[in-house]
Amino acid sequence: MNVRKQAMTLTLNDELVEVLVKPYETLLDTLRETLGLTGPKEGCGTGDCGACTVHLDGKAVASCLVLALQARNRQVRTIEGLGTDDTLHPLQDAFVRHGVPQCGFCIPGVLMAAAALLAETPRPSDEEIRYGIAGNLCRCTGYTKMVTAIAEAAAAVPQGAR
Ligand code: FES
Ligand code: FES
Repeated sequence: MNVRKQAMTLTLNDELVEVLVKPYETLLDTLRETLGLTGPKEGCGTGDCGACTVHLDGKAVASCLVLALQARNRQVRTIEGLGTDDTLHPLQDAFVRHGVPQCGFCIPGVLMAAAALLAETPRPSDEEIRYGIAGNLCRCTGYTKMVTAIAEAAAAVPQGAR
């Protein structure tokens, strides 16, 4: 079936981007296959694992459950836009220092979920951190180091600096 693509504009990691998408295409597929951003991962494709988590207008979403067209004229941030080429985001820095990543598959999604959490709750309790990343499955780490690293990153960033 020949489906006509539609042009749309979005702000991706602070840059205005124009892209052609199919009406039923997910935001995850657009990011990975058309725009070449392979940080967001496809684990389940059904909203259960969190590996595809990105920010849509600052909120963490499972990009496998969002149609690309829903991002039209909106702000999308992926793991590629969390830090800069020169400076890691405090969360990335804390994850590296605590040796959180093992296989690494879940890490981009966890970091984006954690960043959205800290934007809303700058000084979360351990329970709030666990709740904030509850939608992100990790087969490797047991989560303990993740929670420690997120709490440390939260403490390192001055309030209102995000
Ligand atoms: Fe989107 Fe698993 S790939 S939640
Ligand atoms: Fe392997 Fe989380 S580090 S799934």
